[in-house]
Amino acid sequence: MKKIFAGNWKLFKSPAETRAFMSKFKEVMGSVTGEVVFFPSAISLEAACEAVKGSAIKIGVQNAYTQASGAFTGENSAQVVKELGGQYILIGHSERRSIFGETDALIADKVAYVQSLGLTPMLCIGETLQEREATHTFRVLETQLLLGLAKADKAKPIVVAYEPVWAIGTGKVATPEQVAETHTDVHSILTKMGFTAPILYGGSVKPDNAGQLIKQAHVSGFLVGGASLEVDSFQKIATV
Ligand code: PGA
Repeated sequence: MKKIFAGNWKLFKSPAETRAFMSKFKEVMGSVTGEVVFFPSAISLEAACEAVKGSAIKIGVQNAYTQASGAFTGENSAQVVKELGGQYILIGHSERRSIFGETDALIADKVAYVQSLGLTPMLCIGETLQEREATHTFRVLETQLLLGLAKADKAKPIVVAYEPVWAIGTGKVATPEQVAETHTDVHSILTKMGFTAPILYGGSVKPDNAGQLIKQAHVSGFLVGGASLEVDSFQKIATV
């Protein structure tokens, strides 16, 4: 299976910055054998979709609501993402959960809706430092998967991103042993539930740790925040 290298741009990059990045990244895409997906902010989505036309780069948004349209001030429509040529929707990122109060029940509805449109949900899961230290990691991940995938279609594509909350944006990457152990657990939970999904690792992935991490069991690629904002660092990660 092709590895997936995804860049989560969070609230960075204007449409003009997005166009400039994509025109440079298209030049280096020839060196990448895996699949590349960028998640720009919703305001830069159209610029991103236009800029990657004719290349293998895929685009998605970082969040979308459970309905195509309606009185939902401030939300994004996955239907419009599809119309613009986007293919992925990030769902349940830890910042959505902790800052914007997203629950597993809402996440489950989003996953199901995104799949119903023929788009691919990238479901993010991960434990806090407190939960890891209390040895609750397995239970937390199992709960997030059971609830988040409660309405998902097993026959349709889905990607899971394991991102320990304590490793996101902190520079504290999980060790290769922690990644191997946790990805093996996530894989076995998914298998038991009847799902087949690539499992990406996310949390302070950088060019200097990506090579070790990609070799670990059940690591099908990365979800990268900070290091996806520069062409050079993301290309290094996507060509490990
Ligand atoms: P980071 O972010 O690579 O900057 O730690 C990862 C993410 O939030 O997806």
